[in-house]
Amino acid sequence: MLRLEKLVKTYKTGDQALKAVNLEIPEGQVLALIGPSGAGKSTLIRCINRLVEPTSGNVYLGDVELTGLSAGMLRKERRRMGMIFQEYALVERLSVMENVLSGRLGYVGFWRSFLRRFPQSDVDEAFRLLDRVGLAHMADKRADELSGGQRQRVGICRALIQNPALLLVDEPTASLDPKTSRQIMRLICELCKERGLAAIINIHDVALAQMFVQRVIGLRFGEMVYDGPPDGLTPDKLTEIYGEEDWEATIEAVDEDDLEAESAAS
Ligand SMILES: Nc1ncnc2c1ncn2[C@@H]1O[C@H](COP(=O)(O)OP(=O)(O)OP(=O)(O)O)[C@@H](O)[C@H]1O
Ligand SMILES: [Mg+2]
Repeated sequence: MLRLEKLVKTYKTGDQALKAVNLEIPEGQVLALIGPSGAGKSTLIRCINRLVEPTSGNVYLGDVELTGLSAGMLRKERRRMGMIFQEYALVERLSVMENVLSGRLGYVGFWRSFLRRFPQSDVDEAFRLLDRVGLAHMADKRADELSGGQRQRVGICRALIQNPALLLVDEPTASLDPKTSRQIMRLICELCKERGLAAIINIHDVALAQMFVQRVIGLRFGEMVYDGPPDGLTPDKLTEIYGEEDWEATIEAVDEDDLEAESAAS
């Protein structure tokens, strides 16, 4: 459903962030994108919806070649791609409900959205989504009154109310504590499964990625150096992806008891 062909991004500064990346993702597949800082993870995600313009190569979403689209057509196609960021990017002074509904702006007309008059069906759907992520009782709260984990849940609802076919997720847990991180990762993966959504999740935490996804892509210096199941990430592979970083410490940091408690609870 998503296909990247020889995707290249060279920034004006001369930084070669992506070097001819080929990647195919079938419908409904959730994959984790790992790699050291500067590997090109965010660039890859942003080249897909053309927040960053690729230097060369092609991106296909279904039968549509996104890289060839005019601005108007691109706007329409972007509805099919929900984006979730690390920094939540909520409008602070708006309510939770209004933030979720802002995900519909690509659909409702300009004046209607300017007046913030959304169809009742959109409001109903926003409530259903907030309920699903456990925030229905907070619909009227202002975004700046929420915790980090709650904000990320609102961000997830806002991405899903677009009714996308693909989720692009950039470091969803980077500012969250370990427990909340796991809850957010689980929620994203569950929602993808429920809705048959494909997703690319950029994530620093290898152990967390391994817990929740079936496929991992490792990027290093703009090149794919791993594509396979999480349990194929042997120490050698991880060293190839991350270099000589002390990643082993990261993996051991996942507390076994904690994991057991988690699986008992779910
Ligand atoms: N706007 C930009 N202009 C110039 N160079 C950039 C720009 N954005 C990113 N780069 C460079 O492109 C490379 C890839 O950056 P990118 O942000 O995609 O990495 P990343 O894997 O997401 O890293 P991190 O884990 O730190 O978020 C880096 O060398 C970075 O310096
Ligand atoms: Mg990044």
